[in-house]
Amino acid sequence: MEADGEEGDGTWVKVADLSECPPGNLLEVEAGRERIVLANVDGDVYALQNRCSHQDLPLSDGELEGDRLECLYHGARFDVCTGKAVGLPAIKPVLSYDVQIRGQEIFVQI
Ligand code: FES
Repeated sequence: MEADGEEGDGTWVKVADLSECPPGNLLEVEAGRERIVLANVDGDVYALQNRCSHQDLPLSDGELEGDRLECLYHGARFDVCTGKAVGLPAIKPVLSYDVQIRGQEIFVQI
């Protein structure tokens, strides 16, 4: 894992290579102590906290449909661009992180 901390308020951490998370896929990664799920929506990569706001289970077990992530466990849906809950039983959003693609590498700001 690499960090450079040059921009913004947080530290940018390399979490994966782009090839590990192709379009339409989710990928569980870690950045420091944060557990994160990456979502590749048609080449744009988003990053959310990897814990459903319903019962804290991993969102990376779910499925990505367009820009919606559906939790495997009880079917809550989240907008991966914002972390907003858009389908019950989740009501609260999940944290979203800024993402940068540098070459073939995915960085998340934590
Ligand atoms: S833990 Fe995700 S919907 Fe219940």
